[in-house]
Amino acid sequence: MNNTNVITLSNITKIYQTEEVETLALDNINIKIDAGEYVSIVGLSGCGKSTLLSILGLLDKPTDGQYLLNGRDVSDLSRNHQANIRNEMIGFVFQSFNLISDLTVEENIELPLTYRNHLTKSQRADMVKSALLKVNMEHRAKHLPSQLSGGQQQRIAIARAIAGSPKIILADEPTGNLDSQNALAIVELLDKLNKQGTTICVVTHDPRSVQGATRQIRLHDGKVCEDVASLKSAVA
Ligand SMILES: Nc1ncnc2c1ncn2[C@@H]1O[C@H](COP(=O)(O)OP(=O)(O)OP(=O)(O)O)[C@@H](O)[C@H]1O
Ligand SMILES: [Mg+2]
Repeated sequence: MNNTNVITLSNITKIYQTEEVETLALDNINIKIDAGEYVSIVGLSGCGKSTLLSILGLLDKPTDGQYLLNGRDVSDLSRNHQANIRNEMIGFVFQSFNLISDLTVEENIELPLTYRNHLTKSQRADMVKSALLKVNMEHRAKHLPSQLSGGQQQRIAIARAIAGSPKIILADEPTGNLDSQNALAIVELLDKLNKQGTTICVVTHDPRSVQGATRQIRLHDGKVCEDVASLKSAVA
């Protein structure tokens, strides 16, 4: 095995079973992602992008197939175990920010860190401060999410995702609810994190938001139908 592979998906299938219908959301997916890659995942609505990201982010389990994260099989761990690994390794950014409305900005960022038992209160405070600085939001630490603009809320969501120094950032339509100026700030932030070595996978419909991506994976009906190096990396 190539030991720089941070993600290896082999024959991953995901079937959603509801009372009436069975949906094959992912159909035999095989993807390897190296440390430091910046992957954009694109495709039509319903093709399985969010499903793929939730499996990568250990928010959901595949129906079949194997997921190796940093060489370790995480396909079928208990929820608790998954949550611990996610907390240490992965930062997740959602289209709708998903901040907790009655916690302040700094409390939101601190929350995932409180599940890391070895961290002291003052270590957590330092990590929160440093994450806020990275997204230029240190002046809003005591605000509630509702007191911030959409772009600022997304920057806080990114601060929450990066506070624990994850190896991987997964972002599902991170600019989907933002105007172009705020979207650009988020895109620049993701580019910067990637340049600092973070592996990034971003789902997006917005071509502006993947300028920095080095690879594009296109899904169609739950299958990978294209997997190419982006122009930018080809000329680099
Ligand atoms: N929780 C669920 N239960 C049942 N079916 C689901 C569930 N989540 C997604 N699906 C189905 O799985 C398929 C893939 O959905 P998914 O959300 O991954 O698509 P997507 O590519 O992210 O689409 P979009 O661009 O609209 O966000 C769709 O047919 C969807 O209806
Ligand atoms: Mg989606």
